[in-house]
Amino acid sequence: MATMTTQALDVLYSRQQIADRITEMGAQISRDLNGEKLVMVGVLKGAAFFLVDLSRAIHVDATFDFVAVSSYGVGQRSSGAVKLIKDLDQPIEGKNVLIVEDILDTGLTLSYLRKLFLQQHPKTLRIATLLDKPSRRVEKIDADYVGFSIPNLFVIGYGMDYAERYRNLPDICIMAAGHPG
Ligand code: IMP
Ligand code: MG
Repeated sequence: MATMTTQALDVLYSRQQIADRITEMGAQISRDLNGEKLVMVGVLKGAAFFLVDLSRAIHVDATFDFVAVSSYGVGQRSSGAVKLIKDLDQPIEGKNVLIVEDILDTGLTLSYLRKLFLQQHPKTLRIATLLDKPSRRVEKIDADYVGFSIPNLFVIGYGMDYAERYRNLPDICIMAAGHPG
């Protein structure tokens, strides 16, 4: 049986640090909603872990939806083009929508989604990202809620992948250059 070796990986944020920060983010998002309902839209697959944990830290009536986009093909390189692979299941007109993303990197994905969703005239449209790499931005876009702002590192774990692997690492780890993958 294949075993995932994690000893060689440096932990950037531990599962406890992630959990603590998500509790704070959930409290802030709940306050900002003033008791109104929320639709959380997760960006598959990376944001799945974050959405599940964040939703339990938000104390308002919330429903989920998911979209899938392709931006990164295989490995660490982006093609630059964003394509919608799975659309929303339910219309979001008049709703308070929170896009939930794992990493805001070049901003191409979230700029694309924001523009797409605004065409449906939601009541409010906000963005929560667990990680933000502001130094990598190509499109001008900011998240309303940021878990951690990080330098230009490639990270894996807690939903984030390298060529689809490592999503199930419980901590956020640094993928070192030269790592065999
Ligand atoms: P953007 O469109 O460049 O902002 O990139 C968004 C997507 O790229 C994220 O949702 C991630 O799926 C992926 N991505 C960016 N940086 C990393 C990383 O360090 N590790 C894993 N995936 C990443
Ligand atoms: Mg992603």
